[in-house]
Amino acid sequence: MKVGVIGCGTMGSGIAQVASTANCEVVVYDLSDDALAKSKSALAKVMARLIEKGRVTEQQSHAIQDRITYSSELNQMQGADCVIEAIVENLEIKHKVFTALESIVSEDCIIASNTSSLSITSLAACLQKPERFVGVHFFNPAPLMKLVEIIPAVQTEATVLDKAKATIDSWGKTTVTVKDTPGFIVNKVARPFYSEAIKMLEEGTADFATIDWAMKEIGGFRMGPFQLMDFIGHDVNYVVTETVFKAFYYDGRYKPSFTQKRLAEAGYLGRKSGRGFYKYTEGAENIEPTKDLLLGEYIVSRIVAMLINEAADTLHVNIATAKDIDLAMQNGVNYPKGLLAWADEKGIQYCVTVMDELFDEYREERYRCSPILRKMAKNSTTFF
Ligand SMILES: NC(=O)c1ccc[n+]([C@@H]2O[C@H](COP(=O)([O-])OP(=O)(O)OC[C@H]3O[C@@H](n4cnc5c(N)ncnc54)[C@H](O)[C@@H]3O)[C@@H](O)[C@H]2O)c1
Repeated sequence: MKVGVIGCGTMGSGIAQVASTANCEVVVYDLSDDALAKSKSALAKVMARLIEKGRVTEQQSHAIQDRITYSSELNQMQGADCVIEAIVENLEIKHKVFTALESIVSEDCIIASNTSSLSITSLAACLQKPERFVGVHFFNPAPLMKLVEIIPAVQTEATVLDKAKATIDSWGKTTVTVKDTPGFIVNKVARPFYSEAIKMLEEGTADFATIDWAMKEIGGFRMGPFQLMDFIGHDVNYVVTETVFKAFYYDGRYKPSFTQKRLAEAGYLGRKSGRGFYKYTEGAENIEPTKDLLLGEYIVSRIVAMLINEAADTLHVNIATAKDIDLAMQNGVNYPKGLLAWADEKGIQYCVTVMDELFDEYREERYRCSPILRKMAKNSTTFF
């Protein structure tokens, strides 16, 4: 199989590595020679590390690198069975590339985009044959993260969706199918993990170290919300929240926070700039968590109930199946449990009660309980 990758920044380079490791012949195209050279040398370094760790042999490492051709000419995509685009997040620029690409590849070549925030349908619209277009959303770093969200556009033919899914499954990834809606599954369902944590910080319920401690030690999450936001970068994380908020027609459930916006404005972007909520410079002192068990349990119950509510509502409006929603959160952001399975475990009525208590207290849209949870509680049903 010949796979084309357009754009070899962070994501394109990772996707090329994944496809080549799965024995595909890969052609990588980028308009920057510098990016092409960097991508090639970065892969050589990754392979050297994998040899050291005993994950690949010298021979496999050479084969993986040899199967990738780097080119600054788009017509090298000729003969590709599938092309995945991972260039700058801009609709007009992506349209230009797809229009040029369609005149090079064959009729039955699948054209896919790795976009995080643009509508797949709007991207497909520029093509002569939009039925061949599909979204394939990898997570960073693509070689390590198991999840790929597969998003059919309104125009996508069922056979194209099936073929894209089967191909990426054969690369050893876990795929989930998602309706073309803002944030897909992961970037939508995860919003309360950050926003509810920031809300509690702003209101003085607890400091950020205590909230992180509670989510890790009591909630079982790998990283606390503030650690994770510092890791992702406040510029990136804030933009995702704002994009989802706008795309859902300003639904109060996704309202961004000034606290995070100010951090981004100050250049306190997190780990990458040496300071976010925490300080990362050598010898810097950070606050210690309170480790108050009752407070910790309150924090976890509030954030987890909000996450469950968002996951349930994602099912309620048929964005994905219950199984795929749970798979996505476990494999895309490493949640300790699937949120809907967690709801079953906690009890659906309990989740409704937590949401209703928050709604009564705040009278804010963000705390409205999903109708599906209310209905399930009434009928004593479960997700699985
Ligand atoms: N970074 C992430 O965590 C992440 C995760 C999932 C999806 N995405 C999506 O993947 C895409 C790429 O993101 P990234 O972080 O890898 O970006 P990046 O900035 O690291 O790389 C983009 C690459 O595209 C090249 N490029 C720009 N315009 C081009 C053009 N017209 N033709 C050919 N090459 C061009 C640039 O030279 C650069 O090498 C975006 O759509 C983004 O939304 C990013």
